[in-house]
Amino acid sequence: MRIGVLVSGSGSNLQAIIDLCKRGDIAAEIVLVLSNVPTAYGLQRAKDNAIATKVIDHKNYDNREPFDKAMIEALDDARVDLVCLAGFMRLLTPTFVNHFTGRLINIHPALLPSFPGLHVQQQAIDAGACFSGATIHFVDEGMDTGAIIAQAVVPVLQGDDADTLAARILKQEHRLYPMAVRLFSENRVLLKNGRVEIVNCIQDDAAVIISHK
Ligand code: GAR
Repeated sequence: MRIGVLVSGSGSNLQAIIDLCKRGDIAAEIVLVLSNVPTAYGLQRAKDNAIATKVIDHKNYDNREPFDKAMIEALDDARVDLVCLAGFMRLLTPTFVNHFTGRLINIHPALLPSFPGLHVQQQAIDAGACFSGATIHFVDEGMDTGAIIAQAVVPVLQGDDADTLAARILKQEHRLYPMAVRLFSENRVLLKNGRVEIVNCIQDDAAVIISHK
C-alpha cells in the first residue's frame, strides 16, 4: 500500500506512521509527504527517513481549486493508495475529496461528531466534557463529518487547559493513527452506506471506561 501524508506542522503523527512502516511488519510505505507550509517540521522528518517530499504552498495560488488540483497531480504521480491527513490545516475542495473517495482519511483531536472545527480541546473543556480524545475518519465534503473509523478516549481532568488536554490526546493519536493505517494495509476497513465496518474485528464488550470530573 502506497501512502501519501499531508502535513502543515510538526508532523508527530507522520512520525508515528513512519515508525510503523519502518517496523516492516506491514505491507505499507510512505511514498510522498506533501506540505502547504515550506517550513513544516514534518518535511524534515520525511527527509530524515529518505521519504520524498513536496511543498505546494497555498499562498502561491489564487484560490483552493488550482491548489487542490496541484496536490491531486502530485499524489497521483506518486500512485498513492491511501492519503493520510496528519495535521493538515487547509480545507479541501469537493474536487479533491471526490477524487480520493474511500482512500482519504484524517485525524481530528476530539471525539467526533462532538467538537468539529477548530480549537476543539478548548471546546471540550468549555462544554465540561469528562472525556475527549481523537478520531480517525474518512474525509467527505463536510467539516469533520466523514464516517468514523477509530477513536481513542482520554479523560478531561480538572485544571486542564487546552494545551494539557491537547498533549494527552496527541499521545493517543500516535497509537491510533498507526492502528488505522494497519487496518487499511490489511484491507479490513469497509465503507458501507456511510458507515465503517472493520473486517474480523475482535469485539470486547467488557471494555468500558468510566470517569468523573
Ligand atoms: C494533531 O493533534 C491533529 O489531530 C490535529 O493537529 C495536530 C497535528 O499534530 N489536526 C487537526 O486539528 C485537524 N483539524 P502533528 O503535526 O504533530 O501530527
